[in-house]
Amino acid sequence: MKWTSLAAIVLIAPSQVLALLRFPCAQLVLDRLDPLVNPGAIPSPHLHQIVGGNSFSPLMEPTKDMPKDSTCTTCQFSEDFSNYWTAILYFKAKNGTYKRVPQIQNSGFDGVKGGMTVYYMQDGLYNFNQTSKVLAFQPGFRMYIGDVNARTREEAERFRQLTYTCLDNINTRDPQTLDFPSTPCKAGIMTALRFPTCWDGVNLDAPDHMAHMSYPESGTFETGGPCPASHPVRMGQLFYEVLWDTSAFNNKEDWPTDGSQPFVWSFGDGTGYANHGDYIFGWQGDALQRAMDNPCYISCPTLKSQDAAAMNKCAKSRVVEEDINGWVTELPGGWHANYRK
Ligand SMILES: *[C@@H]1O[C@H](CO)[C@@H](O)[C@H](O)[C@H]1NC(C)=O
Ligand SMILES: *[C@@H]1O[C@H](CO)[C@@H](O)[C@H](O)[C@H]1NC(C)=O
Repeated sequence: MKWTSLAAIVLIAPSQVLALLRFPCAQLVLDRLDPLVNPGAIPSPHLHQIVGGNSFSPLMEPTKDMPKDSTCTTCQFSEDFSNYWTAILYFKAKNGTYKRVPQIQNSGFDGVKGGMTVYYMQDGLYNFNQTSKVLAFQPGFRMYIGDVNARTREEAERFRQLTYTCLDNINTRDPQTLDFPSTPCKAGIMTALRFPTCWDGVNLDAPDHMAHMSYPESGTFETGGPCPASHPVRMGQLFYEVLWDTSAFNNKEDWPTDGSQPFVWSFGDGTGYANHGDYIFGWQGDALQRAMDNPCYISCPTLKSQDAAAMNKCAKSRVVEEDINGWVTELPGGWHANYRK
């Protein structure tokens, strides 16, 4: 299983007409909130990093009008008031204390503070035409991917495309692994989350926030695998890349002496198998469908764009006050690193 390189596209096919929606979103907030899995909970069990529209709040009803309730977004395309989030990475020192690993943006997005890179694709990465018809998500749509309790490879393999890349430089994309890199990564660790692309055509959500979506019946979205009869509607591929700047933690002398690696998710997973992400759709009007129907790459003439300063300025303050910057004796919410079930 090998997932191809995004940065490489720019290098390989600069002259092609590309229709791949790829854009940076600056950090909106780091907060212990999760309106999808723990709606209304202040705090939610573990810490997240969130990007997108500033109507993000502890409780987000499916009827919430995110474009109307937001005054800005941290994403490049200013009609995108969706929210995208993942857990946060920590480093565990030999003395047992933890420190949050900062985030950086992808290459090409200088000036954007932290956050993540978001993609919506019509076709696999190396199909530069990106001409397939895909349906955009609808208001009220939300989904989740991953398993917070996964601690084994078998459990992680259920989700075909939640991976890690050990960055030798910011453009490294392969190989990708399902668990944390086992050696220090010079330019950081990249987590990649590809969501399922086949919709049941009916439900905007599901009790587990996953059952309304499916992976292709065979193959992958990239290989043009067909959707199963239960989930016949082919949607765009939603995909996050998050870059963790591990440079302060790459000294091998600070690593465990038993050969294990020191990084841990904010909910205690030290294997990496529990990588997971959340999405709440919040594009204005038909903006996402227009983008899916027109050529887009970095610049997307059919969409309104804003610069890095405007994206950064939309950051909001935390609801849950707790120490998320210092060395802490336990992870926010009382979690401790566990490396195996
Ligand atoms: C624990 O280790 C880290 C990293 O070496 C260090 O910065 C921190 O001060 C230590 N904390 C204590 C309580 O010794
Ligand atoms: C992209 O479009 C060109 C021209 O229409 C076509 O020749 C080529 O086969 C297409 N590539 C893919 C991967 O579909």
